[in-house]
Amino acid sequence: MSLLFRALTPEDLAAMQALENQAHTHPWTRQTLASSFGARYFTGSLWTAATSLEPKGTLQGYFVADKVLDESTLMNICVAPSAQRQGLGRQLMTHYLRLCRERDITQHWLEVRASNIGAQALYAAMDYQEYSVRHDYYPTAKGWEDAVLMAFKVYD
Ligand SMILES: CC(C)(COP(=O)(O)OP(=O)(O)OC[C@H]1O[C@@H](n2cnc3c(N)ncnc32)[C@H](O)[C@@H]1OP(=O)(O)O)[C@@H](O)C(=O)NCCC(=O)NCCS
Repeated sequence: MSLLFRALTPEDLAAMQALENQAHTHPWTRQTLASSFGARYFTGSLWTAATSLEPKGTLQGYFVADKVLDESTLMNICVAPSAQRQGLGRQLMTHYLRLCRERDITQHWLEVRASNIGAQALYAAMDYQEYSVRHDYYPTAKGWEDAVLMAFKVYD
């Protein structure tokens, strides 16, 4: 599959929402997705090439991250269920870390549901390590679950 990287724009919101709803157990709302275009955020996405049926191509995955001084938190990353386990998550993470380097970011953080073993495996494969646990941080259908806080590289 030939894929193109680019930043997301507000015109992509409908495609983001469709993918978000497919990929996540607790998808972001349209309002939260729209906030990804605020000044402190940056994004990246992977698209299949344009065709006559899909003139913009099809969104296969994206991430949303913020930048505060020299720190970044990866706020969201997802890959279309039909395209998972084909290396796209790793490509998005590599792209994200490259954009961080370009922005002189030296501290990289993320939070992930304790039950989300697949995402944690991706982050570990990208050299993230567990930093701490926030207890009862995320809502679930039955109550709450812990968040695992992970860091890529932190300079003391
Ligand atoms: C997490 C997610 C982005 C991974 O994307 P992906 O394209 O499937 O990941 P990749 O194919 O690049 O996987 C790279 C490596 O991560 C690990 N990995 C990824 N998904 C995994 C899973 N479900 N189980 C175990 N390991 C997994 C593996 O080590 C994998 O390498 P391998 O396939 O050679 O074994 C994707 O599963 C997803 O969108 N999940 C739903 C949304 C989500 O949970 N986002 C994270 C919120 S914090």
